[in-house]
Amino acid sequence: MKLYALITQFFAANIKWKRQSRRKNCSNQFWFVLFFSVAIFFLLLCFNHLLFENIKGFVYFPGKSTGSATYFPGKLKNSSKDSCLGRYIYVHDLPKRFNEDVIKDCQLITRPSDKYSVCKSLENSGLGPRINGSNLWKNSWFSTNQFMLEVIFHNRMRKYDCLTDDFTVASAVFVPYYAGLDLRRYLWGFNTSMRDSSGVDLIDWLARKPEWKRNLGKDHFLISGRIARDFRRKSNRKSEWGSNFRVLPGSENITMLTIESGSSINDIAVPYPTYFHPSNDFQVHEWQEFVRKQNRPYLFSFAGARRRRSKQKGSIRTQIIDQCQASNKLCNFLDCDSSSNNCDHPANLINLFQTSIFCLQPPGDSLTRRSTFDSILSGCIPVFFHPGSAYTQYVWHLPKDHKKYSVLISGNGRINQTLLGVSKDEQMAMREEVIKLIPRILYAHPSSRLDTIQDAFDLAIKGIFKRIQILTQN
Ligand SMILES: *[C@@H]1O[C@H](CO)[C@@H](O)[C@H](O)[C@H]1NC(C)=O
Ligand SMILES: *[C@@H]1O[C@H](CO)[C@@H](O)[C@H](O)[C@H]1NC(C)=O
Ligand SMILES: *[C@@H]1O[C@H](CO)[C@@H](O)[C@H](O)[C@H]1NC(C)=O
Ligand SMILES: *[C@@H]1O[C@H](CO)[C@@H](O)[C@H](O)[C@H]1NC(C)=O
Ligand SMILES: *[C@@H]1O[C@H](CO)[C@@H](O)[C@H](O)[C@H]1NC(C)=O
Repeated sequence: MKLYALITQFFAANIKWKRQSRRKNCSNQFWFVLFFSVAIFFLLLCFNHLLFENIKGFVYFPGKSTGSATYFPGKLKNSSKDSCLGRYIYVHDLPKRFNEDVIKDCQLITRPSDKYSVCKSLENSGLGPRINGSNLWKNSWFSTNQFMLEVIFHNRMRKYDCLTDDFTVASAVFVPYYAGLDLRRYLWGFNTSMRDSSGVDLIDWLARKPEWKRNLGKDHFLISGRIARDFRRKSNRKSEWGSNFRVLPGSENITMLTIESGSSINDIAVPYPTYFHPSNDFQVHEWQEFVRKQNRPYLFSFAGARRRRSKQKGSIRTQIIDQCQASNKLCNFLDCDSSSNNCDHPANLINLFQTSIFCLQPPGDSLTRRSTFDSILSGCIPVFFHPGSAYTQYVWHLPKDHKKYSVLISGNGRINQTLLGVSKDEQMAMREEVIKLIPRILYAHPSSRLDTIQDAFDLAIKGIFKRIQILTQN
């Protein structure tokens, strides 16, 4: 065998070289290196086959830390190493009118009352403009608009580690439709057929695909950055709110992730996006540590505006603001009234929540608020006034035992009395629970990947697999 001969030759040369005089040392050293290199080369050649197989296995079946790729597992040998088994996702290649074209015309999505153009909110993969500031605000903080989850989620999905082009091996099928952004263009002043047309078009498009026929859409899911109620208009009266997308017969079998679910079991709530989009585990741990050490001079705080519309007197918001203001030094109120734009600066909100022990989260236009997640992010214990503001919503992300991380005040409960009744030890234990929730409610930066931490996206995907498995079993 060639290799054997080479090795013998090498050793022979080596022995000879040792006997040589010092003057010849240099040229012999050269031969030593040459023989050694050739030997290694042939050695590699011999084991080429074996090595290549290993490398292939490694590349095709990556762990969490490798980049994105498209996989064709059906074409490969069976391998126990396939960590993607049961986690493959097929993403529909939708016509651009369902996503890219919608955000290309971002000025059409912008409303006159918006403080910032939607085009600005779409920067940085939907995270919005970066927030500049001191050390702690490093590179992971953005002025994220609460309605951008469709774009953020889609960009995370593009980097998901178990994408497949072969839908027959996929456990779930993702439909990257920007439902909420599409609808926002027509929500005010347009007739119902304008509001409904793209949803009808989408269902029509999907129903023709072979991917649909396998499970009649039960393995399909999409995400909406708007609340579920916006897509459940029952009649065709123009005055009625929203579109009919989720009441279309073809739509019922699709699972929709949404920032707020309603009565339908096919709409599942996931956290609103916050301002923090870390790129690695360290940034998350660093932030948790920072929040833990905060000095919190206020017992409770509230950021919000009085509701001008409808019966203002006696509304929960009005009561809360009145009670906050009557509690003097115990409560800190950040007035988000339209005359000032205090609440559009993330730093103001985070600073408010970081210096408070409890954060009031009453219902607003709907039951849930993005502010709930900003307060968790700040280590501030959320105080709810309705179970639908969180407990019945974010079942994949928040713990079942809600007393551990939050307070529920029902009826006309005195806020200051209730909160003064929570002992310091209880406060500490609850805050620790809240701080533990931080990784679960944030969306990591779409162009990076957290290592050991499962963020809101990861938990949503996990929930989707479980749910679809049950739906498609029967
Ligand atoms: C892989 O193994 C499973 C059982 O472990 C078997 O059902 C399947 O047909 C195999 N696939 C291929 C491509 O050999
Ligand atoms: C942050 O700074 C960059 C340039 O340094 C600027 O382009 C960007 O607009 C700033 N962002 C904000 C929110 O002020
Ligand atoms: C709805 O409005 C669009 C333009 O805004 C118009 O072209 C269309 O005819 C209207 N449809 C109905 C049914 O009124
Ligand atoms: C939804 O699933 C049901 C079976 O559970 C099926 O009868 C129905 O046709 C499906 N809808 C569509 C549009 O495929
Ligand atoms: C608690 O709130 C009430 C109004 O709801 C107020 O009258 C009372 O002074 C407050 N107590 C404290 C200690 O601030």
